[in-house]
Amino acid sequence: MPAIVVSSNDSGVKHKDFDGKITIYVVLCGILAATGGLVFGFDIGISGGVTAMDDFLEKFFPKVYRKKLQAKEDNYCKFDNQWLQLFTSSLYLAALFSSFAASKVCSKYGRKITIQLASLFFIVGVVLEAAAIEIVMLIVGRIFLGMGVGFGNQAVPLFLSEIAPVKIRGALNILFQLNVTIGIFIANIVNYLTANLHPWGWRLSLGLAGVPAVILGIGSFIITETPTSLIQRGQLLRGRAMLERIRGTANVNAEYEEIVHASEMARRVKHPFKNLMKRSSRPQLVIAVAMQVFQQFTGINAIMFYAPVLFQTIGFKSQASLLSAVITGTVNVVSTLVSVAAVDRLGRRVLLLEACAQMFFSQTIIGALLFAYLKTNNELNQGVAIAVVVLVCFFVMSFAWSWGPLGWLIPSETFPLETRSAGFSCAVSSNMLFTFVIAQAFLSMMCHMKAGIFFFFAAWIVVMTLFVIFLLPETKGVPIDEMTDRVWRQHWYWRRYMEDEDGDKIKKAEDGL
Ligand code: BGC
Repeated sequence: MPAIVVSSNDSGVKHKDFDGKITIYVVLCGILAATGGLVFGFDIGISGGVTAMDDFLEKFFPKVYRKKLQAKEDNYCKFDNQWLQLFTSSLYLAALFSSFAASKVCSKYGRKITIQLASLFFIVGVVLEAAAIEIVMLIVGRIFLGMGVGFGNQAVPLFLSEIAPVKIRGALNILFQLNVTIGIFIANIVNYLTANLHPWGWRLSLGLAGVPAVILGIGSFIITETPTSLIQRGQLLRGRAMLERIRGTANVNAEYEEIVHASEMARRVKHPFKNLMKRSSRPQLVIAVAMQVFQQFTGINAIMFYAPVLFQTIGFKSQASLLSAVITGTVNVVSTLVSVAAVDRLGRRVLLLEACAQMFFSQTIIGALLFAYLKTNNELNQGVAIAVVVLVCFFVMSFAWSWGPLGWLIPSETFPLETRSAGFSCAVSSNMLFTFVIAQAFLSMMCHMKAGIFFFFAAWIVVMTLFVIFLLPETKGVPIDEMTDRVWRQHWYWRRYMEDEDGDKIKKAEDGL
């Protein structure tokens, strides 16, 4: 996951070697705060397994359960139920709306309190879900979890980037996304183990999200407020003292001055959203939003949310399908590590384009196999079913080293400082919106489009490939505040937006304005 980073270049203070150490306190704070990613990932991963459990379906979705029992009814439609999808998707809708409130709390009252609120929402959500006796209780629980996600995803990445010493900022930032994938993975294992505990296994699955939530809650009292947030809110002395503490040295002048300078610059921009609407912001805005829309239209969350359901659709038994989800979860974590190592060497475009090819291949072959072998009321033979799981892994692997982390990284590095925060919040809300759309629509789409759903995602991958080839410039190795000159002004298409802006400035200067 992303962060909006006040880089050393943003402030106009040119690179200085900051004298900070990597202190135990900073590492501890990083690990504790990144637990927010664990809770988020756990929520992503848990719902698919739970909605595949008979006890859960029988209790809250008896209609779906009856449909499922009529085993030979319709492979593609047995899970199609708006309420069942609302169980999964309500979280993202709540996250979408609460992230606006969270961004206000975060800048007005600080990162620490935003993380505390996130853990509170998480804990309330978990209790409601694990104790649910009515479907309404379940959905309200999901809404609280969504508010936790909205607050946590706003504050945690920001927090990580702000406390990190410059030289490990990238690594600490990606710790959040890595935690998301670990959370998904743990959720898959939990579901695998609890599926046999009748009739309350699902309660344990949903309740165990409380563990990372409580760790986050306790951690949120141990962690520091970030020096940037303190300084931005006018608490200069406390900010400096905290900076000395987390850097393990009193020699923090250079970094302190830079934060003060960057905060002043950022404070001067009174209407960031208005700035964002200017023509010269168009390239970054289009790219930030497109990266998120495309990230979701790879179809990744069809797999992350519904892998067990999907695998049951193609004929696996309940346990086998959960096990397959554990396998895809492992692939997801390991491949994210590949991205950490490769992104600054190979560049963004290479990773994205390679992944497009790999994802297109997987989606079309899965679609073709299902089209050929999975009719509405048969089971796939074992060989074909295993081939589908392997292809799903192949797909997840490519996503995890490309559109997963880069969908967040690129929007966080393309905006100039004056529109970075506003621009980035547009990216976050687009992500939540399209995550919601996929969560809400996927099972119905599968019911209506059958194997064609995979061709639908494959078609999007063609669009994404063309987008990367023609419209996405390489940003690897470009200092964040030189993007405009070195990237946008050089780009064959986007430069016209910059030229207009330049033309305006020249005209204004000539007119003596
Ligand atoms: C995406 C999530 C997705 C996760 C999978 C993230 O980058 O935003 O929607 O579930 O990756 O690992």
